This record gives sequence, structure tokens and C-alpha cells, in this order.
Amino acid sequence: MEWTRKQRYLPYNQWPADYLEKIRQQTATSAYRPRYHTAPTSGLLNDPNGFSFFNGQWHLFYQSFPYGPVHGLKSWVHLVSDDLVTWKDLGPALLPDTPYDAQGVYSGSAHVIGDRLFLMYTGNVRDQSWTRHPYQNGAWMDQDNHITKLKQPLFGQPNHTTDHFRDPQLLEKAGHYYALLGAQNATDQQGKIALFTSDNLTDWQDCGYLNFSKQNLGYMIECPNLIWINQQPVLIFCPQGLDKKLLDYQNIYPNTYLIGQQCDLSQAEFKSNQSLALLDHGFDVYASQAFNAPDGKAYLVSWLGLPDIEYPTDQENWAHCLSLIKQLTLKNGRVYQQPVPAIKKLRQKQSLLRDKVAPAQEKTLVEKPGQQYELQLNLPADIQGSLQLFRDQSQKQGFKINFNTNQAAHLEVDRSQAGQQFALDYGTKRQVELTAHHPLFLDIFVDNSICEIFVNHGEFVFSQRIFPQLQAAKQITLEADQEIIYNGCWWQLAE
Ligand code: FRU
Repeated sequence: MEWTRKQRYLPYNQWPADYLEKIRQQTATSAYRPRYHTAPTSGLLNDPNGFSFFNGQWHLFYQSFPYGPVHGLKSWVHLVSDDLVTWKDLGPALLPDTPYDAQGVYSGSAHVIGDRLFLMYTGNVRDQSWTRHPYQNGAWMDQDNHITKLKQPLFGQPNHTTDHFRDPQLLEKAGHYYALLGAQNATDQQGKIALFTSDNLTDWQDCGYLNFSKQNLGYMIECPNLIWINQQPVLIFCPQGLDKKLLDYQNIYPNTYLIGQQCDLSQAEFKSNQSLALLDHGFDVYASQAFNAPDGKAYLVSWLGLPDIEYPTDQENWAHCLSLIKQLTLKNGRVYQQPVPAIKKLRQKQSLLRDKVAPAQEKTLVEKPGQQYELQLNLPADIQGSLQLFRDQSQKQGFKINFNTNQAAHLEVDRSQAGQQFALDYGTKRQVELTAHHPLFLDIFVDNSICEIFVNHGEFVFSQRIFPQLQAAKQITLEADQEIIYNGCWWQLAE
């Protein structure tokens, strides 16, 4: 169905009463809907928002358009968790119901202040001629999770940006509040990170742009996040229109990070001598949100989806999901990402894997792995081969994880034969180089149409959606050019 602007921006209370229920039922019966990841109850989910720890619980919100699998009138949906693994959906939290967010409650963040949580978000407002007026808004959430929006916006669009000015991350440093925002510079249409400061959350001062790169990073930066990992500042953001000479990426827009040596927000300075890096090497990570928990640990969650791409479940009136929560550390000048330790709670039945594979023979590692599982596998140095998930030998279908631990060491994922194809303009393979002659450790999480691969204890992550024929055989198989001895474990995971 073609969605008109009128349909996308129809106020929620003008939809027929039974419509939402109808598409909720359709969503609930989808075979591709994940079970231990967050997915929308209907319609579209995009950015994670307001990731925080407040009142003894983890809080997370997400961008939602509940009426269809398209980007329409957005709101925030609220989730809470005791362990960062199992989330309870508390339903809509911020609705587009004021003059300062009438065309959408866009992305933002949360920060604990006193005994309340302050939510800061972008209100998307369009006038009669559909010109955009972005407002940065605030709301308080009390200990009963009751939210009250501020009557007036915190601030509007400054003269030096275009109307692309959004996604505030609220931080507190040395007694001052700071907001980092994604922006487009008015004079040359370049992507920037804008910085505002306040001492009372009411009066805000424009500090210009964060000085973090001399490069032209494209035409817009979305979803900036500043976190500290072991005292080192790290910027995580989504540059749109980034020149591929600056960073080799294949997705329509990359989600990137930059490790700094020093950051002084009072001077709008973020000093780095490193180059921009990809946060995730798979097909489907964007708009990640990170924050430092009260104990200083850095956590990240990503939208498993990309803007401007159609996905197979659009046909079923829902789209996208959130990644697992990842804990971030720094090692060898890279951000390492690992699933949080509590993920082990999901493990149920297990099967130890320890055997040999004869040269050039495809061996079934797990005959009926199901669709919610974790697979850990140690592979030796100096081999080349392929691990396949959702493998259907008769149909020659499977999601391939091709590895080479020789001199030209690399890991490649290939979803070209993994069922329904989409986003073909951006290729069907993704690859990273690995250290030559080293063993390889894979920790893989599968949940219906999600596959997240943690390589070498978080050195690289490949996150993607795959839409195989779920009725067909879905074995896990392994094949290599020479005899290999492998060991690992498969766990069925709780739904
Ligand atoms: C990123 C984004 C944000 C915006 C939100 C709207 O995916 O475009 O910049 O706030 O989505 O849903």
C-alpha cells in the first residue's frame, strides 16, 4: 500500500477504533517476529531512546509509528527491565499531542535528576506549508513512571543550522548540563554535532558545534552519543552521505564511532587522533544509543533496521526490532561489544559440540537448532571454510558465515541465499579483516529473523535481519577446506 502524507500524519485518535487491534493481531502471528528481542506490537519501530537506569530499574524507550510499517507520526514506547535482557512493555509514553511535537515525538535521551528522570527529545513540527520547525522539549518522569511534559520547549532551531536539528543527548558534566544534537550546518549543508549548555534546564546557551573532526562528514549527523569507557571519551553517531573514501561502508548510512583522547565540553572540544570506525559490520544497525550507567559501565542498544529501506515484514504491517543490549569496553584502540552477562539466563537445553569435519564435507553441527538459540564456536587458525545457519541442503539455501584464519584472514557474512532478499542495492555480503593465523571465536544469537554475531569476544559485531523459509530445514552446518577440529556449544534460548 502507498502511504500518503495525510495517512502518515493522521492524529492517532482519528484512526478507526478497531484498526490497531487488527494489525496487532497480524503482527503477533508473524513467523519472523523475534521472541527474546524487542519488536513493535504493530507498525514501525526505529531508534532506541531514553536508555537509562532510574528508580532501581533499566528504562528504554523506542520510536514508534504503530499504524503501519512506515515512518509516520512518531511517539515513544516505554520498556523496563531488571536485568537488561527481559523487557516489559509499558506502552506509549510520549505522544505527539502538543503544539511543540504535533508531527512527531522524535528521538532523545533521559537523565536522572534528583528523584525524577528528565526526558529530552525533539518535537517535530510542520507548518501549513510543511516547513519543519524542530523544538527540543523536556518532560519529567516520576517514580510511578508518570510523565509530565514541560509546557514550553527548551529551545528551538538556531540560525546556524537548517531544520535538520534533532536527537538531543543530555549529559551532566562538572555541574553543568549539556545537550549534544545532530545537525546540518546552514551555510554549507554539512553534518555537525551541535552543543548547548544550561545550568537549570530552562535557560539554554548555544555553544556552536562540537569540535571533533576537520573532515566533511556528509550532509547530516543523526543520533550523537558521547560516553566514557575507562575514562576515555567515545563519540557514537550516524553520518549521512559520508564519503566512502573516509570510511569503507556498504549500508545506506553507517553507524560510526570515534575514540577520543580528551573531551572538554566547556570548550566544545573532543580531541581524537584516531580515525572513524564502523560500530557494526553487519547489514542492519543504525541509530544506536549508548549511556554510562551509575557504576560507569557503558551500554549500547541499536535499532536493527535502516532508514529508506523496505523490509519483508512490511507486508505484515510491522517492521524492525532492537538489538540485544551490548556492554562496551576498549581494547587495542577499538570499541569491543559483548552481550550483557545476564544473557546467560536465557539458556535452556544445551548441546556440546566437539568433533572433526573431514575436508570439503559439509557436516551438520546441530540438526534441529530451532529458531531461538545461541551458538558458540571455536575454530582453529590456518583454515578456510563456511559455517551456515538456516541451512537447507536440498534447496541450497543458508546464511553463510565464511571464515579464513590463514594469511589473508577475514570473516564474511553472505545473506544472498538466506531466503527473501531486500536492500539489494547495498550488496549481499559484509566482510572484516582478521588477524592472520589466529583462532576464531564466534558467539552467535539467532531469534527468528535476527542474527547477531560477536566475533573474538566483541572485537567485531555483525548484526542483521534474515528472512529464510522458516518451514524448510534449518540446520547448522560446517565445512572447511581441510580437516578441522572444532569445539563449542549450542543452547536453546528461552522465548
Ligand atoms: C534516526 C531518526 C532521527 C529522528 C528519528 C525519527 O533514525 O531519523 O534522526 O529523531 O529517526 O523517528
